[in-house]
Amino acid sequence: QNSDSRTLLKMYEETAKLYSHILLKTENGSKALKYLNNRDIDKNLIETFNLGYAPNNSDLLLQFFRDRDISEDILKKSGLFAENQQGQLFDRFRDRMMVPITDEAGNIVAFSGRILDKDASTAKYLNSPETEIFSKSKVLFNLSNAKKSIRDNQNVILFEGFMDVLSAYKSGVTNGVASMGTSLTDQQLYTLSRLTNQINICYDGDDPGVEATYRALTQLNDDRFTYGVISVPDKKDPDEYIRSEGSEKFRNLVKNGVQTPISFILNYFRRHYNLNNEHDQLEFLNQSLQEIVKLDSPVEVDMYVGRVADEMNVSKESINKELDALRRSNA
Ligand code: UTP
Ligand code: MN
Ligand code: MN
Ligand code: MN
Ligand code: MN
Repeated sequence: QNSDSRTLLKMYEETAKLYSHILLKTENGSKALKYLNNRDIDKNLIETFNLGYAPNNSDLLLQFFRDRDISEDILKKSGLFAENQQGQLFDRFRDRMMVPITDEAGNIVAFSGRILDKDASTAKYLNSPETEIFSKSKVLFNLSNAKKSIRDNQNVILFEGFMDVLSAYKSGVTNGVASMGTSLTDQQLYTLSRLTNQINICYDGDDPGVEATYRALTQLNDDRFTYGVISVPDKKDPDEYIRSEGSEKFRNLVKNGVQTPISFILNYFRRHYNLNNEHDQLEFLNQSLQEIVKLDSPVEVDMYVGRVADEMNVSKESINKELDALRRSNA
């Protein structure tokens, strides 16, 4: 670690302290505190995740670090400031609830800031840019907190959003992480592979979340892992589900509701195609067979052949014949 990196880490640490202080101890933070309370994020959770508030002020942080004689060069490198046309720096995060992002060792290396009110003119979450200490493709949100629990549970749960990780944590599901709006990179998979060999995907239950789950399953073919899917009902995201259905129901879903990839994929095809239409029926059959043919276990093959036969209202024998034909053409 060079001295710039050490300075940056120190700055992020101090920034998180400042934002936390503003949230919890000042009048300025009351709006954000109310926002968090409305989302059922209590004092305990705020402290566990070191949440804060960046007030609506364009030079609060700038003055803070200038007072400490931090050089312009480091201020620019820190990613905590943006630059206007005249080349003047100003605080990047303003009027946002602040979520510190830590590296595997627990050092704060970035922030994500969420707007408090609905506002279409700006991104809901604003993330730190890449810096000497932060690379989005390497970091997994909450990994430092979740590590032990991932080992103990022998699986990691991959969520879409920060708030899902927080709510799950509060409900007692502490082995959750989130990537920062991207699919898992080789780096992240490598990091996880040292802790567990089971990845359970628990993305949002809305249409984009279901599509992202399907994409993830088709892309993730790293042999080090077994994959599972936890589908959240009613098109909710995990945070919404926990808040409407309660912690116990969510813990149950996580414990007993892990689907195999093939099961999720067949459901996905089932919903995608209109089985009253012949063209769609055949597409459904073709797509399903392409997946079933990849399975190693004869029992599993038999089970899913049965499911497809049921869906299509045809005999298992005929499906098995199709499967044999596919195997021959693949050979
Ligand atoms: P979602 O839109 O599902 O947000 O995006 P969310 O996690 O449910 O957020 P809340 O509950 O409205 O607060 C999922 C994830 O995509 C990234 C964030 O990591 C977010 O948690 N994202 C989303 C961004 O980086 N920027 C955005 O503007 C939106
Ligand atoms: Mn989403
Ligand atoms: Mn969501
Ligand atoms: Mn949400
Ligand atoms: Mn077609």
